[in-house]
Amino acid sequence: MSAPKPRTDYERIAPAYDCDRQEYDSFDATLAALLQAALQAAQSAGTPRLLVDVGCGTGTLLARFEGDAGDAFDWQTVGVDTSRKMLSVARGKVFASALAAGAAEALPLASGAAGCLLSTFAFHHFSSLGAFLREVRRVLAPNGRLVLRNILPREGPQPLMYRFFPGAREIDDRRFPLHAEVLAELEAAGLELSGQHVDERVHRFTAARYLELCKKRTISQLHLVLDESFRSGMAAIERHQREHPDELLEECVPVHTFVATRP
Ligand SMILES: C[S@@+](CC[C@H](N)C(=O)[O-])C[C@H]1O[C@@H](n2cnc3c(N)ncnc32)[C@H](O)[C@@H]1O
Repeated sequence: MSAPKPRTDYERIAPAYDCDRQEYDSFDATLAALLQAALQAAQSAGTPRLLVDVGCGTGTLLARFEGDAGDAFDWQTVGVDTSRKMLSVARGKVFASALAAGAAEALPLASGAAGCLLSTFAFHHFSSLGAFLREVRRVLAPNGRLVLRNILPREGPQPLMYRFFPGAREIDDRRFPLHAEVLAELEAAGLELSGQHVDERVHRFTAARYLELCKKRTISQLHLVLDESFRSGMAAIERHQREHPDELLEECVPVHTFVATRP
């Protein structure tokens, strides 16, 4: 984990990021329940009603809070992301949330300003999980909550992608922490784990659908593998399609959600 992490260029990915996301939705019933509980706990502790989505990308979650929760959702929301192009897509989807260009490791927010911080599928892009969590501690008010969600592919079942694009695994080994490392970083930053949840998502694709999903290279691993490896992975999926036309491609993806409290 000491070598610099491969950097995904979200300025290039932004225009196509929202296409083909149905299998990889950041939101689900678990996140809704954990976030609601976190907001209630923060609110009853008297923290500021400000929810910050760090690495908010194209604003999918912010738009959902504004849409689904409607008037009942009376928290102010802010999205922070380093990519101006991702934020510009978000601007077309959100109407009530503020959007700010900024880094997770140096959040553009005052100390103690927020009651709740959320970050989904983003921390493997940050230069340092520890630096981000120290910022979380600074920006959260006492008794504020962090809801942190990501995959941890170095443990458990292997993503389907590794079968066709072996270079993707090497990239992930350099970007993702182990589960125990996440817990250790939370503790080192002075945040207290108050809950954790794992959802096993099973994806089944026809080879045609999987080819469709991979071809735009909006998934960061596929953006980062060498062009030659990308082409040979796509050829391997096409070969699979010819040789096993009726076989579905399947993967099980554990999605981890950590909830932590700033004492
Ligand atoms: C895979 S996307 C996830 C977007 C969104 N959270 C979601 O679940 O759909 C990762 C996002 O993290 C952003 N990002 C990468 N490095 C960052 C950093 N150091 N600080 C803040 N955002 C960052 C990227 O620009 C990108 O929008």
